[in-house]
Amino acid sequence: MGIPTVKREKQHYLINTLHSLLYELSEEQKKDCVIIVFVAEVNAEYVNSVAESIKTSFPREIQSGILEVISPPASYYPDLSNLKKTFGDSEDRVRWRTKQNLDYSFLMLYAQPKGTLCGISTNFQNYIRVFKAGVNIKLVIFKQQQKYLNMHLLVLLSGKLFKSEDLPLIVEFFLMFYKDKPIDWLIDHLLWVKVCNPEKDAIHCEKEKAELRIRAKPSLFQHMGIYSSLAGKIQNLKDKDFGKNVLHKAHNNPPAKVDTSLQIYQQYTLEKIYKGEDCFWASAPVAGDYIRFTFLNPLKIERYFFRSGNMEHPGDKLFNTTVEVLPADVSLSKFNYPATKDGYLKIGAFENGIAEGGVSQSIGKIQAIRLSVNSDSPVWAILSEVSMKVVSIHCKDFEQCIEIGTT
Ligand SMILES: *[C@@H]1O[C@H](CO)[C@@H](O)[C@H](O)[C@H]1NC(C)=O
Repeated sequence: MGIPTVKREKQHYLINTLHSLLYELSEEQKKDCVIIVFVAEVNAEYVNSVAESIKTSFPREIQSGILEVISPPASYYPDLSNLKKTFGDSEDRVRWRTKQNLDYSFLMLYAQPKGTLCGISTNFQNYIRVFKAGVNIKLVIFKQQQKYLNMHLLVLLSGKLFKSEDLPLIVEFFLMFYKDKPIDWLIDHLLWVKVCNPEKDAIHCEKEKAELRIRAKPSLFQHMGIYSSLAGKIQNLKDKDFGKNVLHKAHNNPPAKVDTSLQIYQQYTLEKIYKGEDCFWASAPVAGDYIRFTFLNPLKIERYFFRSGNMEHPGDKLFNTTVEVLPADVSLSKFNYPATKDGYLKIGAFENGIAEGGVSQSIGKIQAIRLSVNSDSPVWAILSEVSMKVVSIHCKDFEQCIEIGTT
């Protein structure tokens, strides 16, 4: 796997991405895998600082050779200051896309002979599944894989799989036209050259190209980041093979408004899990993020249960996250729980992806339950189970039930 990275304000994407890539690899899989970080910068001080931080974060992986860090010699890049502006791109963008062509080419050539060492893995999906949190970093995968010439795991060049024996040709093509077009267009042209017949029509051409360009549906890679200009996609790996119910569990919860500061992924909204219809799924939480359930009528909760992660994405757990409740009447009782500045009481925390417990009835009725994330997470977050058990009461009449806030 090749990971090009360039200097940016938010360098920590790289370390998070590497954590994410390595997260679920077994020792066995690690033996069959090389990750090459290509620092596409020529400032030695900067390159060394990146290398150092990777070494500090992944000493074992560097030692064992599963992780390599490389950078190009300064002489590799031609003068990028006087490029011809084409296709309505700004000067900056032309420079960026031109350098990107060169960067990918360098990385591909470096990685090419390593790819042939890898066997064809029947475990391909396993490799892929760990890459999903690759935020804002271009991922190119190299693996000898008979079936795929070019497997698009993502739009643009990020997350593509090539047969290593095809890489020299691809790179030669890039290097011939690197000043002319962005890299995703060049790939398309290359495929055109390979399989399209100028005497036939565009439909024929598209069909032929599609034979070579196998697009994983749904996409297997994640390419999103708050600081990215490129929106990306992630999807369930095997949603065809997996019953939806395996991935989340429904519970009967009291009526509530739900909201979150997390960046929700596609249709996996918080409402879905609260109503038991689907998982909640969001991009990697940072310290200060929250997930909140505000009851329409304050009520007494007996027990709560939250499960993060699911079978498909067991790594997408909530870490360092506390469970907090907002009492309906703060003045009523003295609480034995630490309180937040905004009046929530911390009653529990996630451990190994699960938070559960009883709620002391001394707290009385509760307005809201909130999950608060205390530190940045390298992984995305899934809630696959949310359960709030209302104190079972036998209300004598409708009025009393309303008052108690149950139905
Ligand atoms: C949880 O977050 C707090 C606040 O950022 C931090 O001090 C603490 O070390 C974190 N705990 C763990 C286990 O990461």
